[in-house]
Amino acid sequence: MAHPISARRSTTVSVFALLCALLCVLPCVLLCVTGCKGKTDEIVIGEFGSLTGGTATFGTSTHAGVLQALDEINARGGLLGKKVKVVTEDDQSKPEEAVSAVLKLIKQNNVVAVIGEVASSRSLAAAPQCQRNKIPMLSPASTNPKVTEAGDYIFRACFIDPFQGSTMAKFAVNSLKLKRFAILTDTKNDYSVGLAQYFRETAKKLGAEIVAEESYSEGDIEFKAQLTSIKTKSPEAVFVPGYYTECALIARQAKELGLTVPLLGGDGWDSPKTTEIGGAAVDGTYFTNHYSEQENRPEVKKFIDTYKQRNAGKVPDAMAVLGYDSMMMMADAITRAGSTEGPKIRDALAATKNFAAVSGTITIDAQRNAQKSIVVLKIDAGRFTFVESVAP
Ligand code: PHE
Repeated sequence: MAHPISARRSTTVSVFALLCALLCVLPCVLLCVTGCKGKTDEIVIGEFGSLTGGTATFGTSTHAGVLQALDEINARGGLLGKKVKVVTEDDQSKPEEAVSAVLKLIKQNNVVAVIGEVASSRSLAAAPQCQRNKIPMLSPASTNPKVTEAGDYIFRACFIDPFQGSTMAKFAVNSLKLKRFAILTDTKNDYSVGLAQYFRETAKKLGAEIVAEESYSEGDIEFKAQLTSIKTKSPEAVFVPGYYTECALIARQAKELGLTVPLLGGDGWDSPKTTEIGGAAVDGTYFTNHYSEQENRPEVKKFIDTYKQRNAGKVPDAMAVLGYDSMMMMADAITRAGSTEGPKIRDALAATKNFAAVSGTITIDAQRNAQKSIVVLKIDAGRFTFVESVAP
């Protein structure tokens, strides 16, 4: 039988313990209801991108496109009777930060799906996390084939680099009638290395010659040694499959060295910064891209008008368009899935067929890549002018 004093003490102790437990648990419960689980009356989608760093225009443009789509989706009543919210994480243009960003979105924000990234190296870093957690990831603009090979939860809203590289090689050989090329690759960038390979393969198949191969690393600012060596081999054009900051500097330094042959590039050239940094030196460059502001399709015109109204008259670049398209494609998949469960959204994304996007009609193939057309653009007096469109 318990002694009366110790019985009283143990009652006091257990009331105290209960109070302590309540005090500890209550904030967590409140936090989870309002924060970590998300409100039950809204659907939370994650976005990760380079809002700052060396490719900041990629992230900020994509984000503007995502928000434009989000507002349209919510204006017409949201999805599955709920409001949609987008939580955005900045990865500072760094692959390791991309990993932390998606983990945060998945673990802390409980997102049902993720949109991102633009740069292939960062999509490659983040994809395994989405795959492991069965959270569908839709890359708006990563074109390296390896990205979607990360698993059956990883999709993209754009074409892939074998198509992009071969299109530029065919254009250079067949339309520009050139036969001697140099290639200047960013060896730290999966996208650049892949695109160089596909250009090289097709150019050689078409009977052209690669007379020089040089390399650099993202972040470099001095390219004169490589360009001097390229100049001695007298190529008829130089293929530069990189991102806008380095590409525009390369164009300037090439002109300074008297290397005046056309430069050829891929979608990484698409940024308002290309002409801002490159000035007249980027005139005469040809590059492949996801869309042209000069296309006459009504959906392009409508998108550009709204984008300009929302963004102080700015003309949208390809990332803005692809951010918008990705968000719309994700909304379409969630609607068809009738659910926000990862496996169901995954299945619906995989079944995407003839989806009318601003950047073209999207059909997702068995490798979870988008089958769609590509455009060739020329930089002419600072303007990206439409040259041709090539079907997949
Ligand atoms: N395709 C590039 C990559 O995979 C990224 C990019 C897309 C850059 C669109 C510019 C425009 O890394």
